[in-house]
Amino acid sequence: MSILGIDYEKCSNCGLCLTTCILYRKDRDQNKVILVDNPRFYCNQCGQCIAVCPEDAILYEGIGEALTYEGVEKPETITSYDTIYKFLSANRSVRLYKSKKVPPDTLKKVFEAMSRAPTADNKRLERFSILSDRDKMKILNDAVLEAIYSIPKRNKRFEEMFRLISRAFQSPVYFDAPHVIFVDSPENFPEDAEMQANNIGIIITYGRLAAQALGLGTCWNGWTQIAIRSNPKIKELANIRGDIMGAFTIGYPAIRFNRSPPRYLKPIDGLE
Ligand SMILES: Cc1cc2nc3c(=O)[nH]c(=O)nc-3n(C[C@H](O)[C@H](O)[C@H](O)COP(=O)(O)O)c2cc1C
Repeated sequence: MSILGIDYEKCSNCGLCLTTCILYRKDRDQNKVILVDNPRFYCNQCGQCIAVCPEDAILYEGIGEALTYEGVEKPETITSYDTIYKFLSANRSVRLYKSKKVPPDTLKKVFEAMSRAPTADNKRLERFSILSDRDKMKILNDAVLEAIYSIPKRNKRFEEMFRLISRAFQSPVYFDAPHVIFVDSPENFPEDAEMQANNIGIIITYGRLAAQALGLGTCWNGWTQIAIRSNPKIKELANIRGDIMGAFTIGYPAIRFNRSPPRYLKPIDGLE
């Protein structure tokens, strides 16, 4: 499961791989680029050597397939800043969904986009799962609410809010969305906790933006995250094992936004 070596039939000895990774060096005696012995031990499989090689001469296995497509070498030609700014600004938290399920092939695209997210040290240990069963969602909903209500200071405000939205939804925590996606980290090193949370945040953002491009609506679900701390049973119900996790609802939106809401640019320290 790693970079295996260099295909010398293809390699033009250009040395570009050296610019991306210290595991490559130029052997002066043989006058060729070589890869360190036992690359599996050092390599974090970031794949930059594969990406940069003009001859596609890097041998690898078990880490997926490299993609080539128009614009990959010049990403700014794929989309303009204006387009991406509008797309990002149009991203809303959707709290009203059609009951129609999202076809598995479409959901798979969301997971594929999530798999493209960067993670610290390229570990990519995060696991994905999806809950699409209405009854199981209700059980999870109830466990989340019970946990949230038991948190002093939070309970009053939340109880009132959920009492109101419970009138409209069977599972108000998830707005009766047809699916909830969970991402969790199996790592249990407290010193890495923030980084694992960063990974999950980035993965979910990739998924949510991909979903938007597919005509789907999503909403981060911090409530599950809050609840999991006081009720570990929720992990079992959400089919996750790690302590650090994130969740979002996903489905066809039953709401349309006519403008992007106001957002002010905060003063930026250091920018003249
Ligand atoms: C980390 C995170 C957790 C969130 N958790 C919840 C949540 O539990 N329930 C909810 O309705 N919205 C949740 N949201 C959505 C925010 O309330 C929302 O992004 C914010 O109000 C701005 O609205 P917009 O996303 O439509 O721009 C969360 C957002 C983030 C980034």
